[in-house]
Amino acid sequence: MSLDPITPPPYRIKVVEPIPFLSADERRQALAEAGYNPFNLRADQITIDLLSDSGTGATSAAQEAAAALGDESYAGARSWFRFRDEVRDLTGYPHILPVHQGRAGERILFGSLLKAGQICVSNTHFDTTHANVRLTGAEPRDLPCPEAADLDSRAPFKGNIDLVALDRLLSGPEGHRVGLVLMTITNNGLGAQPVSMANIEAAGRLCRRHGVPFFLDAARFAENAWLVREREPGYGHRSPRQIATRAFQLADGCVVSLKKDGLTAIGGLIALRDDALHGACEANLIATEGFSTYGGLAGHDLERLAQGLREVVDPAYLRSRAASTARLAQMINDVGVDTVQPAGIHALYLNAGRLLPHLSPREFPGHSLGCQLYLDGGIRCAELGSLYLGGMDDQNQLVTPAPFELVRLAIPRRVYTDAHFEYVATVLAGIAKAPERVRGYRILSSPPLLRHFKVRLEPLPAGPGVTSA
Ligand code: F0G
Repeated sequence: MSLDPITPPPYRIKVVEPIPFLSADERRQALAEAGYNPFNLRADQITIDLLSDSGTGATSAAQEAAAALGDESYAGARSWFRFRDEVRDLTGYPHILPVHQGRAGERILFGSLLKAGQICVSNTHFDTTHANVRLTGAEPRDLPCPEAADLDSRAPFKGNIDLVALDRLLSGPEGHRVGLVLMTITNNGLGAQPVSMANIEAAGRLCRRHGVPFFLDAARFAENAWLVREREPGYGHRSPRQIATRAFQLADGCVVSLKKDGLTAIGGLIALRDDALHGACEANLIATEGFSTYGGLAGHDLERLAQGLREVVDPAYLRSRAASTARLAQMINDVGVDTVQPAGIHALYLNAGRLLPHLSPREFPGHSLGCQLYLDGGIRCAELGSLYLGGMDDQNQLVTPAPFELVRLAIPRRVYTDAHFEYVATVLAGIAKAPERVRGYRILSSPPLLRHFKVRLEPLPAGPGVTSA
């Protein structure tokens, strides 16, 4: 990826929103009141919000102009046909079903494709995807490629599925139980790493040979296409849109959260070829989301999406976004904080386990670093470590640590400038200068499901000789 500093965004700012700057005391109090869980903070207590890149992007003047044309007819709205034609053109699939967001698409698709006792295989299931597979009674199984386990390796496609393991599973005694193979592009659960076209093609071939449906979870299809263009031999001369279309064509269908690369606050879709599967999904959609020409979205949302899907594959936009994330990664690495390599686009993943060796996984180093970023700089982000992925006993004591203790800095699209990112790097530099002052945490209460959203914690006492942070 190019680190050329002169890659300005192909837009200028026209509408702005103030961001709050709280005092250190106010932040300390806010975090305590939030039960030391950044998900419980109020947005007006946050200076830089890197919790998610989902639904948090800025829209363009062209999108807002299109929204004014939104046709809110209950059925057959003009906005639906605009959206449908745009998605058909991009993906090449004949059947398009709109949904209000990605997980609604997962619920509907899996409800028609998966049965109890089956296995759904992925390079890595996102957390709601995992939950929606489980809700059908099927088993989600992740088969990431071996290179993904080395956080420092600069292998270009660490988001790939492990083709050897997939072949072994499909050909082995459990092969008949595999009901779906779902490739997540880019691999959000594993460091925002891209999936190569060669890997998508080979996985699709294996699935066809075994008669197993092969779908994409394509929330970040444009960013994956850009990284393919940059990193995979033979794709440098193709446009991101052509690469994305080819990826869709290698699969039987897709489920997409459009809150990411749709460049909108809300939206999602299912797209596929099979007539019978389309019929089953459509019936479920009408019963639970809305009629098949709006699927829970307003006409103005469909208009913003149709335009957003055009803007997101603009090479100038993708080049500038990738370069901006790469510059932030470089700044963070330069102040002594390691990130999962190589940098992806939608997020950076800080190696908290390495930065805070004085904290054991039982003290949740990823969560501790996330809290410290808020205490020191009003920055909100998400832990991806033992608090989220670890196994706990019924006293909320960690028994199985996560493989890595990471913190995800997700980058909203078209929202923050390099000056905001310099601020983030400066706050991290302060932490990296005296990491031992970062305290660990213990769980006070935790819900049985999707723990990380609602867990409440408290800081552990500072270690001997350490001034409290
Ligand atoms: N698949 C992937 C790969 C995702 O990253 C997400 C959402 C979903 C599906 C679900 O989509 O939120 O529209 O229902 N990821 C967000 C995130 C929430 O912060 O990574 P949704």
